[in-house]
Amino acid sequence: MSELHEDTPEITELILDAAAKARREVSTEPEPELTKPIKWPVNCTVGPGLEGAIACETRVGYVNGTKGWLIYRGYDIFQLCAHSTYEEVAYLLLEGALPTASQLATFKRRLATGWLMPQTQRLMMGFPIERMNAMSALRLGTNLMRQEFTYLDLEAARPDVDSAISADEDSIPMETQPRGEKHAVYEFPGRRSRRRRPKRVSSTLMPAVEIESCCRLISGLASLAGAVARVRSGHLPIEADPSLSHAANLIYTMTGRRPSAREERVMDVALILHADHGINASTFASLVVASTLADMYLAVGAGIAALTGPLHGGANEQVVRTLRKIGDPANVPAWFDKALQQKRKIMGFGHRVYKAYDPRARVLGPLVGHLARSNEEARPMYEVAQALEKCVAATLGREKRIFPNVDFYSGLVYMCLGIPEDMFTPIFAVSRVAGWTARVLEYLERNRIFRPRAMYVGAFDKQYVPVDERG
Ligand code: CMC
Repeated sequence: MSELHEDTPEITELILDAAAKARREVSTEPEPELTKPIKWPVNCTVGPGLEGAIACETRVGYVNGTKGWLIYRGYDIFQLCAHSTYEEVAYLLLEGALPTASQLATFKRRLATGWLMPQTQRLMMGFPIERMNAMSALRLGTNLMRQEFTYLDLEAARPDVDSAISADEDSIPMETQPRGEKHAVYEFPGRRSRRRRPKRVSSTLMPAVEIESCCRLISGLASLAGAVARVRSGHLPIEADPSLSHAANLIYTMTGRRPSAREERVMDVALILHADHGINASTFASLVVASTLADMYLAVGAGIAALTGPLHGGANEQVVRTLRKIGDPANVPAWFDKALQQKRKIMGFGHRVYKAYDPRARVLGPLVGHLARSNEEARPMYEVAQALEKCVAATLGREKRIFPNVDFYSGLVYMCLGIPEDMFTPIFAVSRVAGWTARVLEYLERNRIFRPRAMYVGAFDKQYVPVDERG
């Protein structure tokens, strides 16, 4: 057993059991056609919603949907949940390797400093956060952070388009100034190089395409989530405690209560599980924005916006509402039949990539079971969840390979930690920011602006009719 988690052996055991179950049920062969270098142009079959489209090469993470397999930088998700921490995993995603003890200590110090954002927090208080959607508030916060920590809004810091060719996003290679390149290429300076710092800028301000801004955003989003939760529950924000872990501080700053070792570990596991997941909608949104040479703060803001919807991160809140509405396991069959009849999507089930049991739900389900034993509100809801899972697996699971996804049990986990429902999706963002930023940094090393095309199926040859002659 990992020494790191020796005070929560029951959680480690539960994760290792889930891993063993997964190993028994699925094989662990990578898909040869999705795990090899790309030779452009690539041949792939693309479905609606870009299903099946290959956007780029990556070393950050891999999702094998047929087998229910999730990998960060070569490490299986179960291993990371059982033995690692969110701080280590964030470092792994960003830097490509697990940190040494001293690298980890430095990284943790960097993250701990990032929780303190007096100017951003003060500006946030000027907005009606208590009446705003919590995800909108989080997104607003990233804009305010951009203002506090970067010089990007200064006139002298306008993006340097000289280093990019074809700055017009609508241009196609043939239309651009011939410069010898085969394709239009939009370049950022490399991740380690700094964009030229304009004169008369405070020494604390920085550009926004570096690892420094990724760290700022990782702590910053957690700090913002804490403040948003406090204000929305009628309290003043509280300062993070630098002696606490990222997970413990998240619970502390949101609830005002120092978590037990078990609660801290549960939050840590939840954060690890949500940290990265292929080119999902929010990661794609971040990449699209970054590919235009917009900066990391705006890219993360786009990720937050995309994550908000109920088909993506917003599903976790909806699940808890659904379970509460169903109320009793005995009501599940009738509720489910009606949902099927009305062709309603059941929140927390199905996935574009997974056609097997989502490995994240394999961990979160038993975690809820464990927590619900001592939680009176969660216990009956967990029973409803189990009954619903059974119903869906026996019908949609068999017919369409629809199983619980990460959002089915995550809300119940957060509920057991005493976190209000409107903060469930922000917690998803607090974790996923590691994946967004890691993938943006990677993509920018070989940047090419995203620009798919649509098939025009409209009319041609219409004649303009002046407004007063229109019927
Ligand atoms: N309940 C009932 N039927 C479903 C569900 C569901 N949750 N998900 C998919 N289906 C059916 C769908 O009706 C369709 O049936 P048919 O072929 O007969 O028309 C078939 O399965 C394929 O569905 P789809 O909507 O084309 O699949 P997709 O890949 O476009 O959508 C999804 C994936 C996640 C948006 C969808 O499964 C869904 O809406 N699920 C509920 C919302 C949810 O839980 N979202 C969280 C996703 S995981 C975490 C995250 O990414 O944030």
